[in-house]
Amino acid sequence: MTQGKSRVFSGIQPSGELHLGNYLGAIQNWVALTETYDCIYCIVDLHAVTIPYQPSELQDRIYQLAVGLLASGLDPDRCTLFVQSAVPEHAELQWLLNTVAPLGELSRMTQFKDKSDRVDTVNAGLLNYPVLQAADILLYHAEHVPVGEDQRQHLELTREIARRWNTRFGDYFPEPQPLIGQGKRILGLDGASKMSKSQSNTIPLLADEEELWSVIRMAVTDPARVRRDDPGNPDVCNVFSLHGHFTPPAERDEIDGLCRTAGIGCVDCKRRLTANIASELAPIRERAAELLADPDRVWDILNTGAKRARSIASITLAEAYERMGLGRRDP
Ligand code: TRP
Repeated sequence: MTQGKSRVFSGIQPSGELHLGNYLGAIQNWVALTETYDCIYCIVDLHAVTIPYQPSELQDRIYQLAVGLLASGLDPDRCTLFVQSAVPEHAELQWLLNTVAPLGELSRMTQFKDKSDRVDTVNAGLLNYPVLQAADILLYHAEHVPVGEDQRQHLELTREIARRWNTRFGDYFPEPQPLIGQGKRILGLDGASKMSKSQSNTIPLLADEEELWSVIRMAVTDPARVRRDDPGNPDVCNVFSLHGHFTPPAERDEIDGLCRTAGIGCVDCKRRLTANIASELAPIRERAAELLADPDRVWDILNTGAKRARSIASITLAEAYERMGLGRRDP
């Protein structure tokens, strides 16, 4: 799994139901990367506790996320998948990195500012969030980090933290490169902003046809097409762009023509999209159902992943302690 391959690390927050934006924008890419890289993927629960959340729900969200990732095709024999809090080295290295992390830059991070605006009291975890992210990546000496555009700034800060640490304590951490924009950018049901749980505009990944219909029927189409008899313009319609991911090219061309001539209405077009998404994702739903029926298997996979992650992380941490002159012996 590891020999001669360069290393990829990425993280995903257990922040709610997986949706098509996650799947097309990130997870498919994660699966593809396992072909060429030694991939380490982490469910970042320690990041998730920096914003208000329900403790009684977190375990289940972690589990559901693992099910969704595995069902989407992440093969635990071809990558490492684990839960961040099961590897305490993440929190420990974060502390060490805090000593070189520039406060001014932390407080200028766009996501920090956005999130602080949404809470009554700003906790220090929210400020140090990018330092934990740097620890995630540097613990594994990862060279590539697949992330969305919104994480570019955090990645740049990781590189800066690595540089500062290396300058102070000797060259040790490689500066990771972001792999940005390899996933697809998916707009939500509003047809305006990126599909995201915080925008409440998502299409759930594991929904059956009926549930899919209940959300897709609300999707915004070409705003200029008001009545059924108005011709539409697929070029500006987000429902049509979703067809691009799930509908075979011949049917897509047919829909394109019918829309422009008002041969079909938006409802028909959405019905076809719903049916195509449902059948395309049926194998994922089936795998998810199997995994949901076997929680021990899922936790086993995560625990095995954590063991492998720890075997790497503990060495890095011991070296970091040693280079910083701290009195810790080998693991
Ligand atoms: N902050 C990332 C996000 O919200 C998640 C994350 C945490 C991450 N640690 C990471 C991504 C390390 C890449 C590498 O999407």
